[in-house]
Amino acid sequence: MSFDPGVIRAQFPALSIEDRGRPRYYFDNPAGTQVSQRVVDAMSHCLVNTNANLGGPFETSMRADQVVADARVAMADFLNAPEADEIIFGQNMTTLTLHLSRSIGRLFKPGDEIVLTRMDHDANVHPWLLMARDFDLTVRWLPFNLETFEFDLADLDNLLSERTRLVCVGGASNLLGTLNDVAEISRRSRASGAWTFVDAVQSAPHVASDVQEIGCDFLVCSAYKFFGPHQGILWGRREILEQLEPYKVRPAPDELPWCFETGTQSHEGIAGVEAAVEYFAWVGEIMATDWGEPHPGFSGRRKNVRAGIDCLFDYERGLSKRLLSGLATFPHLKVHGITATDALDRRVPTVSFTHGKLASETIAKLLAKQNIFVWSGHNYAVEAARALGIYDSGGAVRVGPVHYNSMAEIEHFLDALDGIL
Ligand SMILES: Cc1ncc(COP(=O)(O)O)c(C=O)c1O
Repeated sequence: MSFDPGVIRAQFPALSIEDRGRPRYYFDNPAGTQVSQRVVDAMSHCLVNTNANLGGPFETSMRADQVVADARVAMADFLNAPEADEIIFGQNMTTLTLHLSRSIGRLFKPGDEIVLTRMDHDANVHPWLLMARDFDLTVRWLPFNLETFEFDLADLDNLLSERTRLVCVGGASNLLGTLNDVAEISRRSRASGAWTFVDAVQSAPHVASDVQEIGCDFLVCSAYKFFGPHQGILWGRREILEQLEPYKVRPAPDELPWCFETGTQSHEGIAGVEAAVEYFAWVGEIMATDWGEPHPGFSGRRKNVRAGIDCLFDYERGLSKRLLSGLATFPHLKVHGITATDALDRRVPTVSFTHGKLASETIAKLLAKQNIFVWSGHNYAVEAARALGIYDSGGAVRVGPVHYNSMAEIEHFLDALDGIL
């Protein structure tokens, strides 16, 4: 079977819900996606059958241990991580990043440098600004080009020096939609002796987050953005994690990965993560037989996950193309991101725009009245919104289709926008 939107949509119970006789149009996906039935089932199964704390000698606790162990293996497959013990669960990306930054900072000396970007979500900016303040580090800023909406990597080269210890960069921008070449950024950072911390929250729903291919040192993501529950996941290179002092309580284990998992985790959320990974693998298995071929080194679930993600992104590029070509027809409307139809592999379908006459918030509210869900504002991309000059004027309208959105929904959105504008 090739990609079949009907079969896909049937997996997601939320997609068929109506409010007051109106269907829901979920274009708020960059802020959080819907989940497949298998995620709902895994979470409720966990709450009913394996609801206990970890490490006990009795049935429910041993089963809960297994749930967490299986999910770690699943996430290692999703990220093509060398070892499952390098996977750390936590509340969300922001909490994990704030938590780890405290340990990372202890390894740096005053005057050491870190590179942050003007494109990233604040969750990959402010934890590091706080770290820089607390440990007397110097911050260097990587700008993005305001015409291409991409980084110029020559700028990165100019920032890197033997003093650079860490480069923090996003896989995809939650405002512009730009997909960054994190593999090349990691390569250049590594060549100058720096570690790379990749925020894959916005890229993970759309493209592979292969930590070995990227060559980064840390990668963090959130399952609720890739069709799973509210659960953060961090991968770190073992030899670096072992150098870090975990901030933990005394009775908690000293070994990886538990030493970085503070307190009791959401076991039901972790169970849902495994089901979210299984969903990608299912797509790869039943819809993407041809797509596994470009990844000859992969087998089993890793191959299926990879094939599934590639297959979904191929479909999403079609959605991006129609959305961008539709938006291009509206006078006074400006898209803040890549619009060239031959560059759709360099962006995710997240599209932000402003209108010369109507405020972004007004547009979002008028769409909401028609049960079309979009966000407006800076969406925590503080630096990017400032660079674009839209931070103080209400930010942009952000429309974020994913693979479960249909072409008919894009047409409906464009018609509704036409009516509003
Ligand atoms: C690019 C990016 N990074 C980080 C975050 C923060 O993620 P979390 O809610 O898991 O802390 C978001 C949330 O929207 C995001 O879009």
